[in-house]
Amino acid sequence: MVKRKNILVIHGPNLNMLGKREPELYGTMTLEDINAGLAKKGKSLGVKVDAFQSNHEGAIIDKIQGAGGVYSGLIINPAAYTHTSVGIRDAILLLKMPVIEIHLSNIYKREPFRHKSMIADVATAQLAGFGPMGYSLALEAVVQMIE
Ligand code: DQA
Repeated sequence: MVKRKNILVIHGPNLNMLGKREPELYGTMTLEDINAGLAKKGKSLGVKVDAFQSNHEGAIIDKIQGAGGVYSGLIINPAAYTHTSVGIRDAILLLKMPVIEIHLSNIYKREPFRHKSMIADVATAQLAGFGPMGYSLALEAVVQMIE
């Protein structure tokens, strides 16, 4: 049975290094900080937020495949796989729920290879360049979408 109020957040490769990783670009918050903020925000919005991070494409695909029937919405930062992964794209196409693609940085202001997202046209919406605040905005948006 679908638990209507569960939201899945997937963080792709190298996002476990947030805080240490290029702080001038990604900020000083750690992934734990972001996840704690999401859990708190989720509580205030009446939803449970489960967060998952992996550096492995197949593990991310497995997680997306398992999301149907369990979650009502997905927020995903596919990180570097954004620009390469047909596999993640195809897995997202299996889902019948709102999917928000999110990036901490504004990928369109960066190197040309980051301008192409394999996910953008199969996601419900995209948020880029808001830093960690983007996760909070994405959660608010996805909760409104499922209500
Ligand atoms: C990112 C942008 C990607 O291009 C990059 O590979 C990342 C992080 C972001 O959140 O801004 O790892 O998804």
